[in-house]
Amino acid sequence: MDKGSIINTTVDFVKKELEGVESGHDWWHIYRVWKNAQLILVDEKADALVVELAALLHDIADAKFHNGDEEIGPAKAEEFMKSLQINASVIDHVTNIIRHISFKSGNQRHIFSSKELDIVQDADRLDAIGAIGVARAFNYGGFKNRAIYDPEIKPNLEMTKEEYKKSEAPTINHFYEKLLLLKDRMNTDAGRKLAEKRHEYLEQFLNQFFNEWNGRL
Ligand code: ADP
Ligand code: NI
Repeated sequence: MDKGSIINTTVDFVKKELEGVESGHDWWHIYRVWKNAQLILVDEKADALVVELAALLHDIADAKFHNGDEEIGPAKAEEFMKSLQINASVIDHVTNIIRHISFKSGNQRHIFSSKELDIVQDADRLDAIGAIGVARAFNYGGFKNRAIYDPEIKPNLEMTKEEYKKSEAPTINHFYEKLLLLKDRMNTDAGRKLAEKRHEYLEQFLNQFFNEWNGRL
């Protein structure tokens, strides 16, 4: 199978697998991460097939919805790629990327690094900032019935991951606790450049938000 047919078949597979999934990680999240990855690939040297396959397959089975079993995603992706008779070293690399992205950071048992992983991780993070990042954050907050903002509840940068997950904080706090920090966590130069643009947009949004909140515009 040539690269184009592999990618087309993968797109169809992922769309089908993600039918009915919550909107934070639906097909359109995958689509945007894939497009972000292609944009980064214009400026970064890497194996494009590995990057595109990993971008398309990276959220195929979110562990959060499978009782925390973090091997389901990589295993599903591996089985699918085997059915297409993709080169074993490509399959290995892609499953490693998916595994690494889904494992909680700090898990020392699965250290793996590659340029291709760096690119997919950047592409995924880019989908959490800029205009799309704003939309996703308020969509998440609405789903959880959170306030959009509460001047009496300040952002808390000291929370552990567990505390953070349990926190009922307003959505604006998420910008300070996570979204505004992402631009400094980018792996590639191309990813960083894109993140800086999207970061600027987040700052403009917050400026406007607080001006309106205070009746200044
Ligand atoms: P990832 O897929 O990178 O693990 P998450 O599942 O944590 O991301 O989040 C998916 C989307 O929901 C992201 O756009 C993220 O910014 C947003 N989100 C996650 N937690 C919150 C929160 N507490 N408040 C607002 N948005 C959130
Ligand atoms: Ni993702």
